[in-house]
Amino acid sequence: MPERLLSGIKPTGNIHIGNYFGAMRQFLELQDQYESFLFIADLHALNQIHNPEELADNIREIAKAYLAIGLDPDKVTLFQQSRVPAHTQLTWIFNSITSMGLLERAHAYKDALANERSVNVGLFDYPVLMAADILLYHPKVVPVGNDQQQHVEIAVDIAQRFHHLYGPTFTIPQPLIRSEVAVVPGLDGRKMSKSYHNVIGLFDTPEATVKKVMAITTDSKGLSEPKDPETCTIFALHKLFSTDQIEELRERYRSGSITYKESKERLAERINAFLQPIRERKAELDSQPEYIERVLAEGSAKASEMAEKTLREVMERVGLSASHHG
Ligand code: TYM
Repeated sequence: MPERLLSGIKPTGNIHIGNYFGAMRQFLELQDQYESFLFIADLHALNQIHNPEELADNIREIAKAYLAIGLDPDKVTLFQQSRVPAHTQLTWIFNSITSMGLLERAHAYKDALANERSVNVGLFDYPVLMAADILLYHPKVVPVGNDQQQHVEIAVDIAQRFHHLYGPTFTIPQPLIRSEVAVVPGLDGRKMSKSYHNVIGLFDTPEATVKKVMAITTDSKGLSEPKDPETCTIFALHKLFSTDQIEELRERYRSGSITYKESKERLAERINAFLQPIRERKAELDSQPEYIERVLAEGSAKASEMAEKTLREVMERVGLSASHHG
């Protein structure tokens, strides 16, 4: 049996090249090697998105994104989290063995508190739902970007706590993080993130992409001044899209023979060339809603089967199953 892989993406809008390089490219590269379970983490989006049409739209966008990048639904199980009730059921059981302290240390929660956004219980409890997402499927690896590492570690903590109380049950998962794409920078040089409004979307139009790239923040080095490639956001993105020319570009940065404007123009061209086939497949999928629905229905049925099996075992272990009542 091949080893299992699991990962998810939150449908909070405008899926971007940070998601692609941080996580989705690994899904694609590993789809032949692992038995993959990939899902739309719609329950995770609920603490941010309270507009039903918007959420429903975002869910379809993620489904199309998975397919448009080239994942093959005959090889990978693509599913929608909310269609598998075991995720929320296991979350409750995990809630009951997880300390507040563990969750109070979570970066996402601490950031939300620091920004004085009102924090709902769902956001606080997010890592527990994520632990359930992962542990239900016994994956060996969880390919993610850097920002999810702590969440996978919390899942491991919760699994170990469960094992301590009830005996070995879960596979201990490992995050799979590619160091060179662990944090893809956004237009302003911070981590590319929907909440920072600094993203280049997989499905942005070519024109919008050019506009965004031309707006990338740089230092104020003059046209023919030497420039530091290692601190330049444009260059960091060239590392993803212009691998075949990266040495030439590095040299031209150092010698001052490239302007930021030229570097941006080349980058925008590369990004658009790269995204073109993905956008085309997405446009085809836009006219195939029945196909998308079939993929998600079949994937969710298959995921449910596995998740239910784990949940039954968990219920048995904690003393909630019918067999304890006889
Ligand atoms: P989400 O939807 O924010 O992001 C999806 C994936 O993209 C990665 N990513 C990045 N990688 C590199 N650079 C960036 N700028 C960047 N931005 C995002 C994320 O690390 C992630 O791998 N909580 C998760 C979804 C989730 C999940 C799970 C993942 C729910 N349950 C179980 C794995 C396993 C999230 O919000 O990802």
